[in-house]
Amino acid sequence: MRRIASFLRALRRSRRWFAVDVGSSAIKIAEFTDSGGGAKVLRAAALPVPPGAVENGVVRESGVLARAIRTFVATDDGARPPVVAAIPGRGVIIKRLELPGQTREALDDVIEFEAMDAVPEDLGNVNLDYHVLGPSETGSGLAVLLVAARKTVIENHVQLLESAGLAPAIVDVDHFALGRLCQELPAGGETPSAWIHVGARATTIHVPVPDGPGYTTDLPVGGEQLTEDLAERLSVPRDEAETIKRGGTTAAAGQPLDSLCDSLAAHIGRGLNLFEPLDHRTAPRRIALSGGSAVLPGLGPSLARALDAEVRVCSGMALTGGEPAGPAFAVVAGLAARNPVEWTDR
Ligand SMILES: Nc1ncnc2c1ncn2[C@@H]1O[C@H](COP(=O)(O)OP(=O)(O)OP(=O)(O)O)[C@@H](O)[C@H]1O
Ligand SMILES: [Mg+2]
Repeated sequence: MRRIASFLRALRRSRRWFAVDVGSSAIKIAEFTDSGGGAKVLRAAALPVPPGAVENGVVRESGVLARAIRTFVATDDGARPPVVAAIPGRGVIIKRLELPGQTREALDDVIEFEAMDAVPEDLGNVNLDYHVLGPSETGSGLAVLLVAARKTVIENHVQLLESAGLAPAIVDVDHFALGRLCQELPAGGETPSAWIHVGARATTIHVPVPDGPGYTTDLPVGGEQLTEDLAERLSVPRDEAETIKRGGTTAAAGQPLDSLCDSLAAHIGRGLNLFEPLDHRTAPRRIALSGGSAVLPGLGPSLARALDAEVRVCSGMALTGGEPAGPAFAVVAGLAARNPVEWTDR
């Protein structure tokens, strides 16, 4: 009997995993379990990141962050649960290649050779991966997405997760996680024309394309810029401006906040317009808006005006009780499809 109980415990344990998105202002982490083929989120938390501990997607002070993750993970039996992590797409080279050869074996042979041309880095410094998109446009080979991630960036994240007591199983790219959400969780029942994720220091725009990986770009703006601009306009310290921003529209903050949302929306609009020739628009855009800054009441309306769009705030993820985990968790939600248990069980 006791043996059966311990077997069931082990099975239950192996069916749980974590997904982590390390941001400059908060680490978004969630625990998942398998439920009939899909991933069900058990719990989620946004762990605060002290200023400077994460810069440009690189973890600079891992001690304090590892402790916070370890406390959340809280395994009492010394087990190292598997984890899926996202590294920032801005540190990753992603290229679409048309390659000869129809089989995976043939591709394995040519991919490294092709990468020497396609990747402007010493191949010794990057981890190469590829994904077959389908037949090439000429029909004689395959269209392949080549991904080259700097080893230092991967190792930096792996080291944080290992020292937090987790077993890194898959390192994904935040761009891909958002791209997956566009396919899996359409806004209003339809695929959104763009997914816009506004964090603290960066904004990621993903434009899905049928039968392709879509287009993704990052802008170096986000909620932190808005806080700093608000502090300047109201002549208050940064932390006070952050509180005012999060408190919604106080009489003093309302007008400047609205105009700062308008400038942020205009900036994002310029980023999105880079894709305009690719986007044959016949109807207003449907924008899915996520990221910690998506809850800013003025941002959705500002984007709707600037982009001529219907804007819907999306988290991509509901907690077990049905409550949404919040739009800051969109990257984590996009990672949920990468179930590491399937990998470790093989
Ligand atoms: N209630 C709120 N109202 C307005 N803004 C908020 C609120 N809660 C969080 N934010 C803002 O969301 C931002 C953090 O979002 P998020 O967690 O997505 O960023 P991050 O992933 O840490 O940053 P990045 O990916 O850009 O490095 C901060 O700028 C914060 O001020
Ligand atoms: Mg982020």
